[in-house]
Amino acid sequence: MSVREILKMGDTRLLRVAEPVSNFGSPQLHALIADMQDTMAAVNGAGLAAPQIGVNLQLVIFGSTAPNPRYPGRPLVPRTVLINPVITPVNTDEEDDWEGCLSVPGLRGVVPRWAHIRYTGFDENGSPIDRTVEGFHARVVQHECDHLIGKLYPMRVRDFTRFGYTDVLFPGISAAEDD
Ligand code: NI
Repeated sequence: MSVREILKMGDTRLLRVAEPVSNFGSPQLHALIADMQDTMAAVNGAGLAAPQIGVNLQLVIFGSTAPNPRYPGRPLVPRTVLINPVITPVNTDEEDDWEGCLSVPGLRGVVPRWAHIRYTGFDENGSPIDRTVEGFHARVVQHECDHLIGKLYPMRVRDFTRFGYTDVLFPGISAAEDD
């Protein structure tokens, strides 16, 4: 499989609403997911959405089996392929935390997200996924699924005093590890 080019903010393909996936279990879908996994691994991503490689489908991947150097100290999120997702907040509690995005290289911002969510959808073979999660896991899912409705995290930032360059905000995170 192959590492694909990640589209950057300003590319209008990142602003589209994605189409639902219907070809569960197909070789084409497995090949697309393999490319996304290779692409995410090559840049230490916490997650990746199909629109970020120019594929306008409701498909995101996220999680890892080892700590992510771009997000030190955050809990592990299980490796997941999530298709045609639906997110429902469990309550109205919000939480602020820093986010970055492979499509917004070199920057970080504080984004408010629902603290507790339920998300449903399907894996690549059409098996249902139904999880209730909180904290960093809930944040990653909300960030990735935002890509499916044409939203990038800077559009969710409310306090622009907490938005800036990663190497200034977090000197401990090397430029090579930042997206
Ligand atoms: Ni992103």
